[in-house]
Amino acid sequence: MNVLIIGSGGREHTLAWKISQSPMLGKLYIAPGNGGTQSVGENVPIAVSDFEGIRRFVLDNQIGMVVVGPEQPLVDGIVDFFKNDLVLNRVPVIGPEKRGALLEGSKDYANRFMDRYGIPTAKFRSFTSDKQEEALAYLRGLSAPYVLKADGLAAGKGVVIAQTLEEAEHTLKEFFEGKFGEASKTVVIEEFLEGRELSAFILTDGKTYKVFPPAKDYKRAGEKDTGPNTGGMGALSPVPYADEAFLEKIRREIIEPTMNGLKEERIDYRGFLYFGLMKVGDQPYVIEYNVRMGDPEAQVVIPRMHSGLLEAMDAVAHQRLDSYTLELEEDYAATVILASQGYPGKYEKGKPITLPEEKKEVQVFHAGTKKEHGKLLTAGGRVMAVTALAAGFSQALSAVYREIENIDFEGKYYRKDIGHDL
Ligand code: AMP
Ligand code: GLY
Repeated sequence: MNVLIIGSGGREHTLAWKISQSPMLGKLYIAPGNGGTQSVGENVPIAVSDFEGIRRFVLDNQIGMVVVGPEQPLVDGIVDFFKNDLVLNRVPVIGPEKRGALLEGSKDYANRFMDRYGIPTAKFRSFTSDKQEEALAYLRGLSAPYVLKADGLAAGKGVVIAQTLEEAEHTLKEFFEGKFGEASKTVVIEEFLEGRELSAFILTDGKTYKVFPPAKDYKRAGEKDTGPNTGGMGALSPVPYADEAFLEKIRREIIEPTMNGLKEERIDYRGFLYFGLMKVGDQPYVIEYNVRMGDPEAQVVIPRMHSGLLEAMDAVAHQRLDSYTLELEEDYAATVILASQGYPGKYEKGKPITLPEEKKEVQVFHAGTKKEHGKLLTAGGRVMAVTALAAGFSQALSAVYREIENIDFEGKYYRKDIGHDL
């Protein structure tokens, strides 16, 4: 089977790396891919938003499955685009249809969904920009810290935790004035949950689901969790503060009712679902749904799979996931992101990268890289993720940090404290 992966980040390189190991695979393509995906498949210069271009490529190259990495094309309805096309509709796409993608595409929708199905989440209220006075009055009745969220997709920048009422009011006005365009014309104001964050994942075919190992993401740019929020600067899997009993609670109180809700609303959901969780005492709360794998969580979760990913996705496509056995490695996985100096703010691109020889114990997953005339160059804020698996986190992290010493590019920045809190 020929497979097309949509996306260009570290998550997509990880998916491509794993899928490329499958005996079921014919040719593997990545659109648009990056400097690393080229070593496991063929990059094709089609943007993730170019549905017509993707359509043509799929038909011309006998693609048997499309795997969607990032959220934007899902929220824009790529699955519906395939389903509604008389020729394309026989090609399965891994990812939810538009109504399912709204779980990530609209925080207001996600919160209402959780309310309907009794899924634990923060107390909230939503306001549209014509209700500014009501929103301000509501804020003034709360106490700090204040959690404000732009309703729509805002590239991970749509959540503000304001420490003072003044800052909260300022943020609210900025959002309503269209800081993120339409995405912030509706604002969700939420109760602040104090606890420890973790991410849980399932792969579902709409009927049943498989639980993937949980992960912890390090979101802040600076050491000791300081500085601005990023897409993620490192990750670990499993999560030491999520024991069997806690994971069972997540399954019973969050995953099951979410699946029931999807079925109840007749949403065709075939793909990954990511639960961003806060552990408050012994209780998990959902702080967000993502309708895809995480990045950099994929870089620690997928390498822990012993069984095949393409095989799992094929089972999803044909709603036979009940007959698939998810086998996992016992090992602990750690990943650290190498970023361009300045990320998530301004940074320079086009810096030559030197990489050591490939090793079995460490995997380098590319993100913001590209190959030009045979040379590997930086091309984004998050440049690559270095992952290792070992019998414990400290061994895995030592292997990662040792490898990082051997990777070189101007402005190489990374957090040196991943895993230090555990
Ligand atoms: P999100 O984009 O929804 O992942 O939110 C970004 C970050 O804001 C999360 O990773 C949390 O650290 C924080 N956050 C979101 N919602 C809440 C909440 N209700 N209480 C406390 N922190 C939150
Ligand atoms: N690392 C967070 C995310 O993928 O949303």
